[in-house]
Amino acid sequence: MVTIAISSQKGGVGKTTVAINLAHAFGRNGSRTVLVDADPQGSVGLSLTRQSRLLKGFYDYIDDAEVKIEELLVPTRMQTLSLIPAGQASDYDLNGTPSSGVTSRLRSLHGELADSGIDICIIDTAAGLFGATADVLSMVDAVLVPQQAEPLGIRSVPKMLEALTRMRIANPRLVILGVVLTMMQDLLPESRDAGKALRAIMPPEMVMNTVVPRGDLFVKASARGLPAGVMDGGDDVLALFDRLRIEIERRLGFI
Ligand SMILES: Nc1ncnc2c1ncn2[C@@H]1O[C@H](COP(=O)(O)OP(=O)(O)OP(=O)(O)O)[C@@H](O)[C@H]1O
Ligand SMILES: [Mg+2]
Repeated sequence: MVTIAISSQKGGVGKTTVAINLAHAFGRNGSRTVLVDADPQGSVGLSLTRQSRLLKGFYDYIDDAEVKIEELLVPTRMQTLSLIPAGQASDYDLNGTPSSGVTSRLRSLHGELADSGIDICIIDTAAGLFGATADVLSMVDAVLVPQQAEPLGIRSVPKMLEALTRMRIANPRLVILGVVLTMMQDLLPESRDAGKALRAIMPPEMVMNTVVPRGDLFVKASARGLPAGVMDGGDDVLALFDRLRIEIERRLGFI
């Protein structure tokens, strides 16, 4: 099993959107995929919202050694894609330092998912590289960093990648897949320039070739908790996230 965290210091940059659509792309390609919501705000699978308050999820698993993954996995319409909702964030101190209890529960979550035949585990994390997100990053194989294509955010990217590089002290095998530009507005010079500026300050292999454009379909899909690709007119989105999936697979040495 390969685990990929979708993380960023900044909020609202498209992490959840990338996580949902990327997990969908892996599932569509036949990989047995699970999308884990490790954001206590729990925005993955909004369509589940009413239920998901009652559902056990990631945080229940962390808190309670009696919880098994069968209690967490929520099937989707796609046989190869299931979800683990966030569940109830309670005792887990989000700003705390990793405790051995948390680390061992994360390890057993990893082990149980791998044993159940999952190929790809995508983990949507909360903004910031501390607390639960830091714990997740200490055990995943790879991290992908969405970054909004707007001028103010770009300058902070190298610092963030430095912070991620420091995570490799705790997790030496962590592959930093790099940045995926999101919400690109091709018709807006400022947005295009932000993309260019990012490519100018970053090593080329640290920026994904695939760029996610800003589009209404993403907002509509996120209101429904769906991957944008399954919406009417979503074919371009399916193709786009397939390209992102292939880029990631190449970087991870799958193909
Ligand atoms: N490509 C896009 N085009 C248009 N809107 C988008 C796009 N990607 C995300 N959005 C919208 O921007 C908002 C933030 O996106 P999203 O929730 O994916 O970001 P996030 O990084 O997960 O945020 P948070 O840090 O709060 O978890 C959402 O309303 C989402 O619908
Ligand atoms: Mg989110």
